[in-house]
Amino acid sequence: MKDVILTGDRPTGNLHLGHYVGSIKNRLRLQNEGNYDKFYIMIADTQALTDNAERVDKVKNNIIQVSIDYLSAGIDPNKVNIFLQSQVPELFEMTSYFMNLVTVSRLQRNPTIKEEIKQRGFEKTIPIGFLNYPVSQAADILAFGTTLVPVGDDQLPMIEQCREIVHTFNNIYKPKTPVFKMPKAIVPQSQILSRLPGLDGKIKMSKSAGNAIFLCDDEKTVKEKIMSAYTDPDHIKISDPGKIEGNIVFAYLDAFCEDEHFKKYLPEYKNLNELKSHYQKGGLGDVKVKLFLNNIIQELLTPIREKRKVLLTQIDEIYQMLFDNSKKASNEAKIILQHMKDEMGINYMNLLKK
Ligand code: TRP
Repeated sequence: MKDVILTGDRPTGNLHLGHYVGSIKNRLRLQNEGNYDKFYIMIADTQALTDNAERVDKVKNNIIQVSIDYLSAGIDPNKVNIFLQSQVPELFEMTSYFMNLVTVSRLQRNPTIKEEIKQRGFEKTIPIGFLNYPVSQAADILAFGTTLVPVGDDQLPMIEQCREIVHTFNNIYKPKTPVFKMPKAIVPQSQILSRLPGLDGKIKMSKSAGNAIFLCDDEKTVKEKIMSAYTDPDHIKISDPGKIEGNIVFAYLDAFCEDEHFKKYLPEYKNLNELKSHYQKGGLGDVKVKLFLNNIIQELLTPIREKRKVLLTQIDEIYQMLFDNSKKASNEAKIILQHMKDEMGINYMNLLKK
């Protein structure tokens, strides 16, 4: 048996470079290796509502935006099932049964939930749905027999919770044939890829912090953002020695630059180490490094932008794809849901004498 891969995003904003290095790149690699039985990417619109109850329009609009972001970045709809969480009712039925297997205090100890409660000022006003989203996320994963979940490291506690639910389910119901596979997370290889910093150098790149370069930004906007990125405030004259740590331009070069970029755009250096040591010694200006980074990022984003233009003329087809794919996903999830209910002994229709 090959792997079943499932991952997803909340549709709360366009995808940016942080998503690109933190998840899209991994997904493209898995897609192109082709070493799987099924590959699902779920647009988690219901999960997005758990902290956006009064912002339905924002979530609704971002369903199509995120779909276009995936397709323009190279996710191939012939290889990957991109579907919409809300259109798969089996997930919510499964969630209801899982909710009885997890305590409130366990959810309150989830480090990602704790952090998000703080960020959102939910200390005294946590919506039940929000606190419960790790349980619902376990259903997203388990309903398809998922074995691999490519995610950023902030999602590791969710996978842990999911695995706990499998153990608890097995302990309580002692299924005669196993219902669930034990899923594993795949995270990006390095810290910088998991948490790409924002342009301001302060925190992780995010739409809400206003420090992001989006996949859909035009050429001019990208260049302006890169030219304004935070570097080393003590590197004033070109001849001054510069610092690499905390310097966002070098952080992005760590994430995006390959040796061949030097041949193309900056042949006086062989590789990033050479560029870094020149910067540290002094004699290398920020503008030169920023223009180099701009070339690399534009090379990545130009084909994505071109593809986006075409996709914008195919909105109806994209919605149709989402609905067809969700129907398929729903039929697949039914199988594990029925198996689960059989093992729990709650398929009451079986009480009818045939
Ligand atoms: N929680 C994920 C995020 O915020 C989105 C998500 C929902 C997800 N269900 C999932 C990710 C299942 C992986 C697997 O990005």
